[in-house]
Amino acid sequence: MQYNKVTETQIKAFQEIVGEPFVILTGEEKAIYSKDYTEDLSFEPEVVIKPSSAQEISQILTLCNEWMIPVTPRGAGTGLSGGALPVFGGVVIAMERFNRIINIDENNFQVTVEPGVINEELQQAVKEKGLFYPPDPASKGSCFLGGNIAHASGGPRALKYGTTRDYVLNLEVVLPTGEIITTGANTLKYSTGYNLTHLMIGSEGTLGIVTKIVFRLIPHPKHTLLLFAPFASPERACEAVNGIFLAGAQPSACEFIEPEGLRLSAEMLNISFQIEENVGAYLMIEVDGNDENEMMLICEKVSEVLYAFESGEVLFAQTAEEKEYFWKLRRSIGEATKFNNTYKEEDTVVPRAALPELFRTVKAIGKEYGFRTVCYGHAGDGNLHVNILRDALSDDYWNNVIPRAVVEIFTCCKQLNGTISGEHGIGLVQKPYMNVVMSEVHLSLMRRIKFAFDPKQILNPGKIM
Ligand code: LAC
Ligand code: ZN
Repeated sequence: MQYNKVTETQIKAFQEIVGEPFVILTGEEKAIYSKDYTEDLSFEPEVVIKPSSAQEISQILTLCNEWMIPVTPRGAGTGLSGGALPVFGGVVIAMERFNRIINIDENNFQVTVEPGVINEELQQAVKEKGLFYPPDPASKGSCFLGGNIAHASGGPRALKYGTTRDYVLNLEVVLPTGEIITTGANTLKYSTGYNLTHLMIGSEGTLGIVTKIVFRLIPHPKHTLLLFAPFASPERACEAVNGIFLAGAQPSACEFIEPEGLRLSAEMLNISFQIEENVGAYLMIEVDGNDENEMMLICEKVSEVLYAFESGEVLFAQTAEEKEYFWKLRRSIGEATKFNNTYKEEDTVVPRAALPELFRTVKAIGKEYGFRTVCYGHAGDGNLHVNILRDALSDDYWNNVIPRAVVEIFTCCKQLNGTISGEHGIGLVQKPYMNVVMSEVHLSLMRRIKFAFDPKQILNPGKIM
C-alpha cells in the first residue's frame, strides 16, 4: 500500500475536529506512542490524536480514508504483540479520553462503558454493586477494556469464567470508512445474522474502532482461597493440572510458574520470596465460591491430587494480604522478565491434557538451540507463556535463528491441536507465523473480510496478516 504523509492542511483539519491541545505533534508526549509493551520495538507516529467521541473519530477516519493516511488505534499500550505500534507512521488515535463508565444496569446485570476505562476500575465499580466482571489480564491495573476487546484478552480467571469474548454483548464501532454502527443488541442471546460483535472481538483494531461497550455481568462470588504448591519436577506439575479437573474440581485459576519467573518478579518488586532447593515449578490454584465449607472440601480434594503428583508441601493462603502477595508476584512475571533481559514472549496454547507434552517440547527446543526460557501461565487453560530470553545471544542469532525455533514451538502447538496465541494476539510480532497454523484458504478469507471493512487498508495496517 502506498500511504501519504500527514501535511499541515491535515493537521489543521484534525485540530478543528478535536481541538488543538488534543493533537500531539512533537516531544516526549508523542514519543510515548511509538512503543507499547512488546519487546523493545519502536515506530514513530507522525501525529497523535486524542478524540473524545465517536463522531470525532468518524470525522478523522473519513478524512484519513480519503487522504490515504494510515491510522493506528491505541488503548493503554500494554499489548504484547505490537498491535498498537504505528508501523507505517501516520496517525495514532489514542483512546484515553474515552474513560467513562456510562451506566451500571443492576436490573439487567449489564454495564455500558467507554473503551478507555481501565479493566480493574470496571471490576471495582461493579463489585460495589455485588456484581462481577471476571476477565483479569495480568495488566488489569493499567490495561484498557478496548484493548481487552481488541485481543480477546483472558487472564487467570478465564479458566472458570471465560475470556473477554464471553462478556461482550454489544459494541458501538466506527468503521475505517467513517460510518458508526452498533454490532448487536444488549441481549444475552443473539441469533440475527453474522455476529459482527464477535468478529470485532480479537480483530486487533484492524476492522474498526470500538467507542462503546456493553458487557454482561454475573453475581460476585463471596470468597476465594489460594493454594500454592512446589514441585520438584515441572512435568509432574503440568500433569497434575489435568489431574485436578479429572478429579472433578473446577478452580477459578490454575497457574503454572517456573521459579525463575518468581525470582525475577520478587527482585523487580523488591519483596522477599524464598525459592527452596530442588523446586522445578509451582502451581498456584484459586478456588472461589459462596460456601466456605464447600470450598475447603474442594481445596482438600485438589491438595490430594497435588500430592499424588509428588507436590511438596501445599501452602494455603487465606488472608487477603497473603493472597495479594502471591498474585502480585505472579502478575509481575512478564514485566519483570522484560525489566531484566531482552525477550520474546510466545503465547502458546494447547488442549489442557497436552500441556506436559508442550512443556517438554519447548524445553527440548531451547536446549537444541541454546536459549533459556521462563515458562509460566494459565495452565488450566493449556495456555503457557514462553519467555525466550536473549541473554548473550548475538544479533544475528536472535534475529535469524531464534525465529526458526519459534516455528518449531508453534508447529508443536499445531500438532497438539493448539494454536500460536491464546490471549496476546497476533499483531506485528506473531504475523510471520500465521501460516504455521492457518491454511492459505483461511488466510485469504480473513484478508477478504478485512477488505470488506477497510477497502483502502488504512486501519492498523501491517497487523495480523
Ligand atoms: C500474564 C500475561 C503476560 O499472564 O498474559 O502474565
Ligand atoms: Zn497471560
